[in-house]
Amino acid sequence: MPSVSVFGAQWGDEGKGKMIDLLSRDADVVVRYQGGANAGHTVVVQGEKYVLHHIPSGILHDGKVNVIGNGVAVEPNKLLEEIEGLRERGTTIDPSRLQISARAHVIFEHHKLLDVLAETWKGEGRIGTTGRGIGPCYADKAARTGLRVCDLVNEEDCRKRLTAVLAEKNALLEKVHGAETLSLEDELEKALAFGRQLAPFVCDTAATVRRAYRDGKRVLFEAAQGVMLDLDHGTYPFVTSSSTGPDGIAAGAGFPVRHIERAIGIAKAYCTRVGEGPFPSEDHGAEGERIREAGHEYGATTGRPRRCGWFDGVAMRYALELSGADGWIVTNVDVLTGFDELKVAVAYEMDGKRFSDLPAELADLDGVSPVYESHPCWSEDITGIRVFEELPESTRSYVRWLEEVVRVPIEMLSVGPERDQVIPVPAL
Ligand code: GDP
Ligand code: IMO
Ligand code: MG
Repeated sequence: MPSVSVFGAQWGDEGKGKMIDLLSRDADVVVRYQGGANAGHTVVVQGEKYVLHHIPSGILHDGKVNVIGNGVAVEPNKLLEEIEGLRERGTTIDPSRLQISARAHVIFEHHKLLDVLAETWKGEGRIGTTGRGIGPCYADKAARTGLRVCDLVNEEDCRKRLTAVLAEKNALLEKVHGAETLSLEDELEKALAFGRQLAPFVCDTAATVRRAYRDGKRVLFEAAQGVMLDLDHGTYPFVTSSSTGPDGIAAGAGFPVRHIERAIGIAKAYCTRVGEGPFPSEDHGAEGERIREAGHEYGATTGRPRRCGWFDGVAMRYALELSGADGWIVTNVDVLTGFDELKVAVAYEMDGKRFSDLPAELADLDGVSPVYESHPCWSEDITGIRVFEELPESTRSYVRWLEEVVRVPIEMLSVGPERDQVIPVPAL
């Protein structure tokens, strides 16, 4: 796998952290290219749980270079906390293992405040963001008023840019939102202190990644969020503010698209969503509740209960086709054990019309209802199984049925949160 893109194919929290940790064994460089501390990627190694927000999920393996690319929105205090937390648990974090792009944009206090304040103004139309300042930071990037990591390591530049930015943000905070203003000196002091601490890790990561690829190293690109939360192709406006699929790699990592050799989507055997926005196969009843409890579906970043529902074959076909996926991995298959029957949305209906694919006019999915088909479930514990043929017949036929519905081969199943709880799926 000289270069592979691994991305979430639903609404986030598909188990990317677990699978990327596992797939990192076969990589030399692991690169995050978008999102920020809105992400929470869980990796469980021998009962020890790690939740990563900025740092790529390859960090728990020795000998890998982990890169925070220019497309990531970096929240310096959170990133430093993450580095410290890992060090306290015995993981070495030094510039040979972690590199941060000088071009990555920085999340400041005003981004977080404005994220939360904007949500209160939206009322019913609120997005249910993570409150981590993601939208305001990417908005400043596009408006060309953001500060980048390179600005934190240069006192003169930092003072000049932050003075101009904060004058406007303070006016917004005070005059539009009636909120307290921020002190320039305090913000500047914090920013420069962060800059000093992060400086050893800061470099031109795009050059590092391209050089590694040129030298025959294996590069894995780790996405955050999921395709249905993509800024352009997701359920706008209920999305995040970056390109979450493989198409984000070129801009967010400085790596040519045509050198991405494989794309693998990650999806749960059911669906979850955190925050607001359309979710056609959401189950508001006892079965949704049962999925939430069995899958411990509470946000890794905010602790919010995740909305739960059935696997959505229409959205999945869309996400994988859009991303040019070669294959996909189904996680949390064990969570479905013991249900009476398993439902899968095979089409949508709206105004009496049936849609088996997601047409552009339905792209935000507002107002569609799912058309379900059912499959028998299994009751046996599958968490200890490692070989496909040893799975109960109903699990195997369920997996083959998902492949038929989605029309892209499934490469692996995940049957528990631990690293080794996976089952390769033989090609048909
Ligand atoms: P990410 O954001 O895509 O990395 O996913 P999260 O870490 O936010 O959420 C996935 C959750 O499912 C985490 O608690 C994982 O430990 C857990 N998990 C991952 N794979 C499996 C699996 O196959 N079975 C079960 N039961 N849990 C899993
Ligand atoms: P990982 O990488 C699930 C959701 C938020 C909200 C919307 C916009 O762990 O899969 P934002 O703070 O990005 O402006 O919020 O996107 N969201 C996620 N949902 N997993 C995530 O990350 C998410 N990151 C953002 O809940 O609905
Ligand atoms: Mg998550």
